[in-house]
Amino acid sequence: MHNIEDFFSEFKKQYQTTSPYSNINQKVLTFELPFADKDYIEKVFLLAKEKFKTWKMTNTSVLVHKMKQFIKELQFNQDKIIYYCHLEAGKSLKDAETEFLRTIEYIETSINIFQNFQDNCFNMDERMAVFSRQPLGVVLAISPFNYPINLLVSKIVPALLMKNCLVIKPASSGTLTATYIFLSLLNAGFERGVVNLVPGKGKEISDLLIKNENINLINFTGSTQVGKYIAKSTYFSQLIMELGGNDPAIVLDDADQKNAVKEILNGAFSYNGQRCTAIKRVYVHENIFEEFSKLLISEFKNLITFSSNIDENSKVTPLISDAAVENAMNLLSESFKKMNPNDFEVFSLNNQITGQKVANMIGKENLFFKEKDTNLIFPTIILIHNSNYDTLIEKEEQFAPILPVIKVKSLKEMIKLANSTDYGLQASVFTKNINIINQCFQEIECGTLNINQQTKRSPDIFPFQGIKSSGISQQGIYQSLINNSTIKGLVIKK
Ligand code: G3H
Repeated sequence: MHNIEDFFSEFKKQYQTTSPYSNINQKVLTFELPFADKDYIEKVFLLAKEKFKTWKMTNTSVLVHKMKQFIKELQFNQDKIIYYCHLEAGKSLKDAETEFLRTIEYIETSINIFQNFQDNCFNMDERMAVFSRQPLGVVLAISPFNYPINLLVSKIVPALLMKNCLVIKPASSGTLTATYIFLSLLNAGFERGVVNLVPGKGKEISDLLIKNENINLINFTGSTQVGKYIAKSTYFSQLIMELGGNDPAIVLDDADQKNAVKEILNGAFSYNGQRCTAIKRVYVHENIFEEFSKLLISEFKNLITFSSNIDENSKVTPLISDAAVENAMNLLSESFKKMNPNDFEVFSLNNQITGQKVANMIGKENLFFKEKDTNLIFPTIILIHNSNYDTLIEKEEQFAPILPVIKVKSLKEMIKLANSTDYGLQASVFTKNINIINQCFQEIECGTLNINQQTKRSPDIFPFQGIKSSGISQQGIYQSLINNSTIKGLVIKK
């Protein structure tokens, strides 16, 4: 039975991370984590490359048995995985549990789809041919902080089912969660070398990882900035990348407003907006802007319950890091500076602040928008009555519970604004008009267009892809299996 103490004892160096829950209720929560050095990383890749020679020949029923065993081992470690996901990612226990259960379903569905893969066969007059799926080799999986279970396992499972070897680099704030997932793999019978975990500070070891010559595929989820760096640094590997998003929601004047409000609040504020698919800006038709804003603010107060007395069940939780808070506060400041105070108002928790009052507070916003000495940002809506500002809070990804809602004159302008950022992950349109749906589907630059519902990746069986700076290649259960493999043909002349 593999255990965490033995695994951590393999590393010479350590470093510390801090839970987002630190400083809440005067508690400080830190974790002592292992840090892989150059030597360790090089050995891991060589071992993975060596193991691949035999692992790729694995009998499929043996592989499926191990994968089913992996589910059992995860369930055995369920409490620890959920608990560390909660502490490391700053999620409520309930959200961490939902993520865990969703992930078990992901594995079960992947096994079913994998078992139904068919080779492509051709029987022609002069030749017969079979094109079958083959592994790529060594996969480097780099997972993010925000879904430390689901976005790690959704890299592990397709890579292993397609008989690749795997090197895992989890986010620093997800290392303990990832370690229990890794131990579950080992205890399920996947050998060291076939699966490998490299813990450490990304900034310090990323070059040693992404530039290694033995990698055949890098599967990365994280920021666009890091994704672009990886894409230009890699030796010669394929890429699957899920990067940033700045998903717009468009509300037309014929929309079911009650539904739109509910979907937008959920889409923008769940997990404090720290989802690549969160709704990050809303464009509302001027004909309904007043009516819609009133409904939105009143439901905001009902639905987003906040208390600074945070516990493990609180829905509004602290942001992942000081840097994340700083980024959000900076986007706010810069946006406030750009606007005429008469053109906007701010609703933070149950308080309404006029643009004029905010203008007088510039430079001191922190006091108002966040809880002192913590990473807790108060959920905030900014109503903007003029669509010409092009503020940073619209243009950049805030990854925080702050939502700009902008009054816009026409559908044409809404589509133009929706397309005005570098991102192209998802978008939502709220309307009953089929012609508008059709036009938006043709013109909005995104990987998935949602009609009358919030932007989201789930269910995992759906293909998931971003365009522009939001990603490379596709995920989703079937697409991930395909993209973790290649094809090899056998052609026989008759
Ligand atoms: O953060 C990026 C995730 O892929 C979002 O997943 O839409 O299911 O919450 P989700």
